[in-house]
Amino acid sequence: MDNLIVCLIEAKDTTTVHSKIVLTSALFFAPSPRTRIAEVRLVGRHPEVYEPCDDSFALVDALLADKAQLEELKPSLCLEVGCGSGYVITSLALILGNCSNSEVQFLATDVSEAAVHTTCSTLAAHHVNAEVVVADLVSGLEKRLDKVVDVLVFNPPYVPTPEHEVGVEGIASAWAGGDRGRMVIDRMLSIIDSLLSSKGIFYLVAVTENNPGEICQVMRCKGFASRIVVQRHTDEESLHVLKFWRVDDPLDQEGPTTPSVSPRTSSLHRTFSQRLARLVSFK
Ligand SMILES: C[S@@+](CC[C@H](N)C(=O)[O-])C[C@H]1O[C@@H](n2cnc3c(N)ncnc32)[C@H](O)[C@@H]1O
Repeated sequence: MDNLIVCLIEAKDTTTVHSKIVLTSALFFAPSPRTRIAEVRLVGRHPEVYEPCDDSFALVDALLADKAQLEELKPSLCLEVGCGSGYVITSLALILGNCSNSEVQFLATDVSEAAVHTTCSTLAAHHVNAEVVVADLVSGLEKRLDKVVDVLVFNPPYVPTPEHEVGVEGIASAWAGGDRGRMVIDRMLSIIDSLLSSKGIFYLVAVTENNPGEICQVMRCKGFASRIVVQRHTDEESLHVLKFWRVDDPLDQEGPTTPSVSPRTSSLHRTFSQRLARLVSFK
């Protein structure tokens, strides 16, 4: 009921039509009263930095769906690789109740300097603390991050493109993924074992063209079980948020299981996120 009140207050500033839409969505999908995520209107912008989109919303929805497990995990270090605008790392910190005296450390990297600046402004706008570093994946941080990352999130450049487009300067580095969109993803998969703690969880956004089943198979060979936390079809792509964790015998596990967020829930939840994003438009 508290949720409903919060959303009704937000709806006050909108037109009657939108008020009805927000209210209807809120009845089903408003997060629990104490769960906050980053506000799209407070997210920093830069022409060369990726704005929060369906993939970013899907990743945050996956983190929200796993809130209880993430809290129970009592993470010491959370890392986002490829933080872009900072929407995801800020949301993760808010989901885990980041505050100045919190013991959880939040760290984010991006290969783009503009993205690092934008993330810093998004964090500041939400009064959230995190360290943000310019890095190619985690280069230069390997020693510090050696098997100590408890929560790792990555929304990579996953769009299949010609290889020469991968890693170029500018906004293209946000999406250009090379052959099958796997070039940056595969580099990440090759270092994951050296980063994750024994209780660590890794969330990865992928699309059908990346072959999520094969990604899970690769991770299984490295000793990780997998699950699809969110699966969502948009006009342009079929998004998956995959989750990986260490197991003694990953061969015991069957293939990636069905999403814990049902298709109906996720599509309505997406509608809620999208409407909210449109209502609180960027300056
Ligand atoms: C699809 S965007 C995601 C941005 C943000 N995390 C979100 O979900 O809205 C991918 C991000 O990864 C960054 N990126 C691309 N290649 C990278 C690399 N090798 N190392 C670190 N970041 C990289 C891009 O600059 C971009 O900000």
